[in-house]
Amino acid sequence: MSFEEKEPIIEKYATLSIPGKDPIKLPILKGTMGPECIDIRELGKQGYFTYDPGFTSTASTTSRLTFIDGKKGVLLYRGYPIDQLATKTDYLQVCYLLLKGELPNKEQFADFTFKVKHHTLVHNQMESLFQAFRRDSHPMAVLCGVAGALSAFYHETLDIYDPAHRENTAIRLIAKMPTLAAMSYKYSIGHPFIYPRNDLSYVANFLHMMFATPCEEYKVNPVIERALDRIFILHADHEQNASTSSVRLAGSTGANPYACIAAGIASLWGPAHGGANEACLRMLQEIGSLDKIPQYIARAKDKNDPFRLFGFGHRVYKTFDPRALVMRETCHEVLNELHITDNPALQVATELERIALSDSYFIERNLYPNVDFYSGIILNAIGIPTSMFTVIFALARTIGWISHWIEMQGSANLRLGRPRQIYMGKEVRNVKPIYRR
Ligand code: SDX
Repeated sequence: MSFEEKEPIIEKYATLSIPGKDPIKLPILKGTMGPECIDIRELGKQGYFTYDPGFTSTASTTSRLTFIDGKKGVLLYRGYPIDQLATKTDYLQVCYLLLKGELPNKEQFADFTFKVKHHTLVHNQMESLFQAFRRDSHPMAVLCGVAGALSAFYHETLDIYDPAHRENTAIRLIAKMPTLAAMSYKYSIGHPFIYPRNDLSYVANFLHMMFATPCEEYKVNPVIERALDRIFILHADHEQNASTSSVRLAGSTGANPYACIAAGIASLWGPAHGGANEACLRMLQEIGSLDKIPQYIARAKDKNDPFRLFGFGHRVYKTFDPRALVMRETCHEVLNELHITDNPALQVATELERIALSDSYFIERNLYPNVDFYSGIILNAIGIPTSMFTVIFALARTIGWISHWIEMQGSANLRLGRPRQIYMGKEVRNVKPIYRR
């Protein structure tokens, strides 16, 4: 993966005046688009830390992969708007785009698809690894384990400083995540694992591994295939979100890339992040009917109640998440195509969105539906079990994680990530032994 690394430009400086100290000049960095950044590295040299819990005002790196404008609801992968990618390309093309920086031509795409298809099998010994899990384990618990276990294989191509090895690792992860995801599901329902089929498309193969059985042929519904491909595209990458930052932090230590991806999977699982799709559908099903919505809205607004509306709000978007708009359209398309007219979860979601968007509490806090608000309804309609929703998110986000991992490995700015803190513990004190042995 070769890329030119452009540095941000410096057009002006900020001056920080601290009583009793000389003013400190700080460069203001400007990227291609987005907010200007104050380069605070000089502060460290002058003995100061900056304090920013949750990194709400911190740029941890430069990147060329994805751009988000939270105010305007813009999301670009390598400069292309997400709604155009979702309707004019497919997930494997988006994988190529995120990895290489450009959409593939016919030959490039054929070569890339061939490579991915010929890495879909996992090492047969992985099968015995699944046996170590209880059958009722959450599929995300299984995926965290088995994806991390990939780091125990492929030692011959793990020179992280070799671009060819990095590319090979990316191909393997793109190819094997659907296999591992489907195996996690099959294991949880006590069905035999289904081998990948290279004659099927990427998404059709995943559906085949999820729902086929040795007893009969499984026919992929093209509407479901298309909808799932679009869901994969919408989840492929999203700048420096929590799970991607976990991958980057692990990657900054020089750790095995498969282990770094496992760090991303573990981080994604939380309901504030990738686990929100599962939590959101369960919330919509718990609300169950339109007349119960007001009490849940009241709970979401009650500071003494930890309940939040899953699928609502976002650290970056302060307007509609552009993915939620595409997801809402896809949701209606899929339910119509499958002749599902009275989906209670969709009815509750539609009414909940309408009420929340007219409620001052949500308006004042810029809380809008995010990518997770409608995705669960679609996944549920196409037969994906709720416990598999975050696994689907992890499968789709793998390309984002490994693209960020590759981008950082090739960067001249690669440094071990090591934040500091404000220490609030005890002052130094001497041990007074309580007893002598
Ligand atoms: C993803 O970062 C990414 O890019 C993530 C992601 C990706 O693709 O990788 O986009 C995927 O994780 C989407 C988000 C999925 N999570 C959820 O849907 C869970 C519900 N949402 C919230 O937990 C919350 O909105 C967060 C965590 C997503 C964002 O919260 P922030 O930015 O930390 O904001 P905050 O918690 O400081 O909230 C600001 C205010 C607070 O009220 P006040 O203290 O100002 O009175 O808004 C309130 C919050 O209580 N609030 C909500 C709310 N979300 C925020 N109140 C009710 N319901 C909600 N959903």
